[in-house]
Amino acid sequence: MNIDWLELARSEDLVVALDLDGTLVPYAATPDEAVLDDALLELLGRLVELPRATVGVVSGRPRSMLVELARQVPALAIVGEHGAWRTADGVEEDILPPSPELDELEVALRTLVARAPGALLERKRCSICLHWRAVSAASRDVLVTAAETRVEEWLETQPDFERLDGAEILEVRHRAAHKGTALAWLRGRAPVRARAVVLGDDLTDEDMFATLRVADVGVRVGSPGRRTHATAQVADVEEARMLLAWLCAARTRPVGTPPAMITAPVRHDARPGEGFPLLVVSNRLPSDGGGRGREVGGLTSAVEAALTRHHGVWLGWSGRDRDPGLTLTYDDSTAPPRAAFDYPPGWRRTFYGGFCNRALWPLLHCMPGRVHYADEEWRAYVEANRAYANLVASLVSADATIWAQDYHLLLLAQELRRAGHRGRVGLFLHVPFPPRDVLETLPWARPLLGAMLDYDLIGVQTWRAQANLRDSVDGLGLRRPEREPDVRVFPIGIDPDAFASAAGTADAADVAALRAGVGERKLVLGVDRLDYSKGIPERLEAVARLLERFPAWRGQVVFVQVSVPSRADVPEYAELRRRVETLVGRINGTYGEADWVPVRYLYRSYPPGVLAQLYRAADVALVTPLRDGMNLVAKEFVASQDGDDPGVLMLSRFAGAAEEMSDALLTNPYHVDGMAVDLDQALRMEPAERLQRHRALAEVVRARTARTWADDFLGALAEHPLAPRRTRPASWPPPVVAPAAVTAPPPVTPRA
Ligand code: UDP
Ligand code: G6P
Repeated sequence: MNIDWLELARSEDLVVALDLDGTLVPYAATPDEAVLDDALLELLGRLVELPRATVGVVSGRPRSMLVELARQVPALAIVGEHGAWRTADGVEEDILPPSPELDELEVALRTLVARAPGALLERKRCSICLHWRAVSAASRDVLVTAAETRVEEWLETQPDFERLDGAEILEVRHRAAHKGTALAWLRGRAPVRARAVVLGDDLTDEDMFATLRVADVGVRVGSPGRRTHATAQVADVEEARMLLAWLCAARTRPVGTPPAMITAPVRHDARPGEGFPLLVVSNRLPSDGGGRGREVGGLTSAVEAALTRHHGVWLGWSGRDRDPGLTLTYDDSTAPPRAAFDYPPGWRRTFYGGFCNRALWPLLHCMPGRVHYADEEWRAYVEANRAYANLVASLVSADATIWAQDYHLLLLAQELRRAGHRGRVGLFLHVPFPPRDVLETLPWARPLLGAMLDYDLIGVQTWRAQANLRDSVDGLGLRRPEREPDVRVFPIGIDPDAFASAAGTADAADVAALRAGVGERKLVLGVDRLDYSKGIPERLEAVARLLERFPAWRGQVVFVQVSVPSRADVPEYAELRRRVETLVGRINGTYGEADWVPVRYLYRSYPPGVLAQLYRAADVALVTPLRDGMNLVAKEFVASQDGDDPGVLMLSRFAGAAEEMSDALLTNPYHVDGMAVDLDQALRMEPAERLQRHRALAEVVRARTARTWADDFLGALAEHPLAPRRTRPASWPPPVVAPAAVTAPPPVTPRA
């Protein structure tokens, strides 16, 4: 986009929104140095004097530092604390109530700050910010690590707060305190048709840039690189001030074009999504927190491992909620780069917790007894798929290849085609696909399956899923005369080298402690999201049955179950947690001794490197889902073994992995007695048999990896021609998707 700066500077009405730190003042090490210099105050004074201009500062600074600025430049409107507080015309407003929850975190962080000279803790009403710019290099690591640990622990119990990592700062703030509403407030103080100029430097300013209109200009201050919603850029604070000085001049008297540095629009390749031939879209992106409650899953593990070599961008949910939500932010520091957005209000309950995880998840896992079908949730699903399609269309050109992941996005291709997308659109289903008579319990089976046929290629994990899907298309009379549905099997894999090398390194503290506690006993391991499809209660019953029927194992085995918190606000998952915890208590109460606890239950998640060591420490892995698309834990366990003394994989026949991994000890998770017998066999398995099975399994895991999976799928997708050309609306800026649309009537009419 070419910006006509002179026209902008002379537009009838103007709104100017300015971040302070990093934009108009260099980052300071101490609050004293953060004092605004005279030249800046003079510049702000000139800006507020401009005719028909509304000028505001939008800062993360606390009120205490900003009231002084308001006194010095009274005509300035000021938003502070990222939007939690504001003032104009001598009137102050608290936009959000204070957050007393932060008191506890403040106490903890103050203790750390006291031990690190130079560290500074800034408490604001809805946030708290730790600065370490002035801390010596020697003490910095200790401070930052300890602070991050405390913050992560605290955040686990405080879902309304989020962590922001800035330039030598760590901030924890209330999610509702962001700069996204500041520009609207400033606009409200100006005539409706005013054009806006916004200057900012960091991620918190993207919330402002994201609300820019077509006629506005957003100027990113700082080195290019991060994808941004800004439309222009300057190099540093000095250039930002020069630009504003030029703006003052251009608005009041005849001047030439602006200084050279701002005549260039933001670098073409630094604009969102442009130039990416591939966009991967999944409901969620990997969770960015690192704590015990980090949400994990096979989809994000595999996509992350698969796409490092592909020139693509990955779009998905941040895991957070926000009003109004659906604003994209970019992160270039990952491979592939990510475009994240927050859910608008309601989606977590109706779309994610509702249709995705109470209707589709149990249905596709062939558990019709668990399904919950609600019209409102189906409507939310339709609207969410449309909103995802809008976000996709806003990021890439109409010819880009789109690769959608999983059951959350079954309608996406249909919505994209409606919006005129020509590029290839593929879907990979990470979950199983049920037989037709189970599918037909879904009141919207026909529109759903019909919409899936708009995908050029559908990839599934197993032959069984492929057969069921094809049979359903035929059985429901949905086959299109012009084209066979292209449904192919691409069993997903892992990055085996990463697990093998992590497993071989020195044990993390947790694993070392566990090994020491287990001693000479046999270690049996289960690792799953806490999901009813994983068969965790059934597995615990089997462990109890082993101890009952084979008493020789009492005192000789320890069963460690890692259960990762998942979908905890969906009722069936909360109920499962209670059931599992009761069972663990019962088994330990019945069989435990003073010096031996049979079941160790860990309700938490571990990073992959620690998991690899846990896998290697185990004698037997119990991977016994009642139904699973693939199950990557099975493959990760194999990849992590010591090739000379491998553990035994006991695998459910109903995991997708069983199709490829037939050399595992296959078991039936519905048959508790049978599982107990199989577990006894696994525990007694001779080294020769263990080695033989392991070699065959390791070959499978090495032959098909996450990378070959992605290469194979994308190769097959590339065989499809582009869709016929149609016009489509301009791809940027992103269309605004009103949250109200979530409840609007669906375009696809359900048929009973
Ligand atoms: N995982 C993890 N930390 C944990 C437990 C599991 O990172 O503490 C990861 C694990 O490495 C695997 C994924 O979560 O990649 C689970 O994938 P799987 O296919 O087994 O099941 P899903 O959760 O996708 O149903
Ligand atoms: C399974 C699903 C994925 C999902 C993952 C974690 O692997 O197939 O689509 O991402 O579980 O579940 P969550 O609901 O936390 O994304």
